[in-house]
Amino acid sequence: MKRPIRKAVIPAAGLGTRFLPAAKAVPKEMLPILDTPTIQYVVEEAVESGIEYVVLVTGRGKGAIEDHFDIAYELEHTLEMRGKTDLLSKMRAIAERGSLISIRQKQALGLGHAVLTARGVVDDEESFAVLLGDDIYDAEVPATRQLMDAHEKTGRGAISLMEVPREQTNKYGIVSGRKREDGVFEIEALVEKPDPKNAPSNLAIVGRYVLPGKVFKLIAETPPGHGGEIQLTDALQGLADDEGLVGVVCKGVRHDAGDKLGWLRANLVYALKDEELKEPLLSTMREMLEEHK
Ligand code: UTP
Repeated sequence: MKRPIRKAVIPAAGLGTRFLPAAKAVPKEMLPILDTPTIQYVVEEAVESGIEYVVLVTGRGKGAIEDHFDIAYELEHTLEMRGKTDLLSKMRAIAERGSLISIRQKQALGLGHAVLTARGVVDDEESFAVLLGDDIYDAEVPATRQLMDAHEKTGRGAISLMEVPREQTNKYGIVSGRKREDGVFEIEALVEKPDPKNAPSNLAIVGRYVLPGKVFKLIAETPPGHGGEIQLTDALQGLADDEGLVGVVCKGVRHDAGDKLGWLRANLVYALKDEELKEPLLSTMREMLEEHK
């Protein structure tokens, strides 16, 4: 009998070179979108999708991520003494989000390798979700839930897709596939960061996956690929060939918070949704637009 999906792996062990020098001592996944670290949105998406166990893949210098999801007694005590009950319950809620398991990727050898680090905590017989620690999905139905539904319906691994401008294919894993139904593709080929000239399409893989445990064996057999890293995209080709893989254009808006422009944009989008910030931000933006005309 098919086992329900209970675990999500969140790789957050990358070096974050695009955010240096900030990422030297602060994990890029802890950089805030307004007042909330990126990775908190990601963990919340997993929990809201019905995931019970969140497996955080961290590395050297990433201890702040584990601390963030831990109980902070001194801070809670001080907030209590000061009568800041709203903030106190917000802090408690963070520490109570799902069951967190933390493992270390000792060397940042690539996304595929980071996922493989979770083998054992997730076994080869169960399907699981993967959510990149620096990618946010702002969606009514969480993107991971949308993929879990597609997995249930098709019995296949499911990955999230987004159309990107042709000239940006060299920033993403790109797929080619056959349309199955609206927004759902049967994946045929996957290529990591192809040059726009050679890209098989402009459909990019973006930060969310639901995969069968069988993928661990495929990753373990995958040699280093683009950039000398063990690429998850390369291992997924084996999955697509062996048992099929579907791509889903998930409903919602995705923000790449691991990229400076994406992170800035996410901050603006979330600030415009905040009642207190919206008007002052808009008037600042209008002034800036005037200045830079
Ligand atoms: P990225 O490619 O965006 O992360 O990986 P990076 O390598 O840290 O970024 P730059 O290019 O140097 O700025 C997407 C996600 O996968 C994790 C990252 O932490 C990020 O959340 N990752 C990547 C790992 O956990 N381990 C790795 O070896 C590589």
